[in-house]
Amino acid sequence: MDMPTLTIGSRTARLPIVQGGMAVRISLSPLASAVAEAGGVGVIAGSGLSVTELAEEVSRARAATEGVIGVNVMVAVRIFKELVQAAIAEGADVIIAGAGFSRDVFGWCKDAGVECVPIVGSARVAKLAERFGASAVVVEGVDAGGHLGTDRHVDDLLPEILDAVDIPVIAAGGIATGADIKRMLDAGAAGVQMGSRFVGTQECSASDAFKAMYVAATEDDIVLTRSPVGLPGRAIVNPFTERLARGDYPAIERCRACLKECGKEYCIISALERSQQGDVTTGLVFAGTSAARVTDVLPVAIVMERLVEEWRDAEGGASR
Ligand SMILES: Cc1cc2nc3c(=O)[nH]c(=O)nc-3n(C[C@H](O)[C@H](O)[C@H](O)COP(=O)(O)O)c2cc1C
Repeated sequence: MDMPTLTIGSRTARLPIVQGGMAVRISLSPLASAVAEAGGVGVIAGSGLSVTELAEEVSRARAATEGVIGVNVMVAVRIFKELVQAAIAEGADVIIAGAGFSRDVFGWCKDAGVECVPIVGSARVAKLAERFGASAVVVEGVDAGGHLGTDRHVDDLLPEILDAVDIPVIAAGGIATGADIKRMLDAGAAGVQMGSRFVGTQECSASDAFKAMYVAATEDDIVLTRSPVGLPGRAIVNPFTERLARGDYPAIERCRACLKECGKEYCIISALERSQQGDVTTGLVFAGTSAARVTDVLPVAIVMERLVEEWRDAEGGASR
């Protein structure tokens, strides 16, 4: 039995698996192109990159695969428009916009024949997105890694979003296995978006120390923390998150004015860059609750094969 395909507007991926965009420099062209080659939607995270750097990443991924390549940019980023336009110019198939809502992005995508997929946390915003021309929406629940737009679980949110819109709905947050994928597809999702599972891959651009934090993490190690973006973030506990919990914020050495609005408690970009480069003591290691289920670092092709096998086993088990 084959897994269903995922159609987002004019683009179809062989598998209903979207690899979530992960900033800063956690999901770049090596991860995205490997996922796209394996049949999923590979997503480069644009937040925290310069326009030139993002353009190079998209161009590299485009040269590496004919599969579906997406670019994720947080609406909260000051150069959101420039990053989205560079991604479009370099041939991205899909733009995924999170951490805020932009009306303009729908027009930029439509003009270029690119699919626009906002990340939503409520039926109200999903409806709005559909009205503006979204090709699909990602509904992300509270178990997801990174910044969170809701305190509700995806299993609770999904039925409401499905009721509210007619476009495909992609479920995210806490999905790590083929059995989880089956649960979401059975509930009506057109596909899933997974972030944490793909940190445990050889192609992911995080440092070995970052990946090792995932492999070692238990459920108790994964906590909510504060971000100057103004949203809570989910991360693996370390001396940095403990410091933040005490309200002891490290001074901002050099503000790059990367966000449209920033609480300025500390510099989120520097904190994410430090962990990506291997300093997992003073850096922020964003992770979903499913990081506790990441037990090894494998090639993307193997992860994708396993997800399909697990889905097939769960399907077989259900029909026996
Ligand atoms: C390290 C990390 C960085 C992330 N960065 C972003 C980001 O830049 N933009 C975004 O929309 N979502 C971001 N996310 C969320 C993922 O794209 C994805 O939706 C989420 O991880 C799904 O939950 P899961 O980790 O349980 O699979 C990030 C997640 C992680 C783990």
